[in-house]
Amino acid sequence: MNSELLMIPGPVLLHSRVLKAMSRPMINHRSPEFAEVYGECIAILKEVFQTKNDVFVLSGSGTAGMEAAVSNVVDGDDVVTIVNGKFGERFKEIVALYGNPIPVEYEWGNPIELSDVEGALEKGASAVTMVHNETSVGMLNPAKEVGALAKKYDALFIMDGVSSIGGVDVPVDKWGVDIAIVGSQKCLAAPPGLAALAVSEKAWERMKAKSPYYLDLQAYRKYAAKELAQTPYTPAVSLFFGLHEALRMIKEEGMHERIERHRKCAEAVRKAMNAMDMQLFPRLNDVSAYSNTVTAVKMPEGITDKQLRGGMKKRGVLIAGGQAHLKDKIFRIGHMGNVSTKEILVTLEALESTLSELGVNAEGGVAAAKDALK
Ligand SMILES: Cc1ncc(COP(=O)(O)O)c(C=O)c1O
Repeated sequence: MNSELLMIPGPVLLHSRVLKAMSRPMINHRSPEFAEVYGECIAILKEVFQTKNDVFVLSGSGTAGMEAAVSNVVDGDDVVTIVNGKFGERFKEIVALYGNPIPVEYEWGNPIELSDVEGALEKGASAVTMVHNETSVGMLNPAKEVGALAKKYDALFIMDGVSSIGGVDVPVDKWGVDIAIVGSQKCLAAPPGLAALAVSEKAWERMKAKSPYYLDLQAYRKYAAKELAQTPYTPAVSLFFGLHEALRMIKEEGMHERIERHRKCAEAVRKAMNAMDMQLFPRLNDVSAYSNTVTAVKMPEGITDKQLRGGMKKRGVLIAGGQAHLKDKIFRIGHMGNVSTKEILVTLEALESTLSELGVNAEGGVAAAKDALK
């Protein structure tokens, strides 16, 4: 077993209670025992999503959740696809399989202009897709505002909250999100392999006659409503045990406290980068648009991804690099799930020491973070 500190933007380190829950003996997935686990997962997820809408858990990762959302409500329709990072791009690719993307695109890490979104919606699209927390560039997109525009133009708002829900404030109903998606391995601090979706009444009204088979949301709805709540096909039961325990821990902590912990850790990382003269990758005027679950930082001049992340790994800390064309241009520190002061400080100590070994003068990060975490 390695004892590396996992500071990537998911999967995240799991609490021993979650690991233990996953080693429970197997049960029948159409039994009162499973119905209780599933029922409690749904009840807590509704609080996490801040929704009264139907919530389901799919056996599949976040991308399965994205594809389920699109494939159930898009069949040849025009869909506004907002892209300013890798996962927005993925949404657009999924939409292209089921309908016609109307892209509203920016360079990765650049903010979205609401007037562009409105301009695209005016032409009569049936839905809009957006990634709330763009993990690839460490920024938050304006979900509340895009939700209001979707409502104004009677389009469905399909939102990827894969790396935000459970770590930042995401009032799904208040923002008018018609289908919201979260991944288990991110802020929920559960094992990878599950995706949860919240589906609004408006989304149910727009379900297509031609639905996918495995990801048919109407089938999920029908089976969840049975006397013993269940899923249409055999779920990844052990992962559900893990998710169940992780959600119980969220309830014990309280969402308010959890959001505040994420905010504080993220702010400490940003302050540390500032003190170390390291530049955050997205250049945002609105400070609140920096992600509180992952920080993307420009790679210092002359340093490669291999050198930086290799040095961190040697010190027992795993961070993430840039994706696609951002490889070698940025590195990313994940601070989601069970993250606390200790992990943040260990990571920053390793970063200072790695950079110093590579000849980059970048000190004062740990001190700045300690100050912010007081
Ligand atoms: C914002 C976002 N959306 C979607 C995904 C895809 O999730 P998965 O890898 O669980 O399929 C990720 C994964 O990193 C993500 O960060």
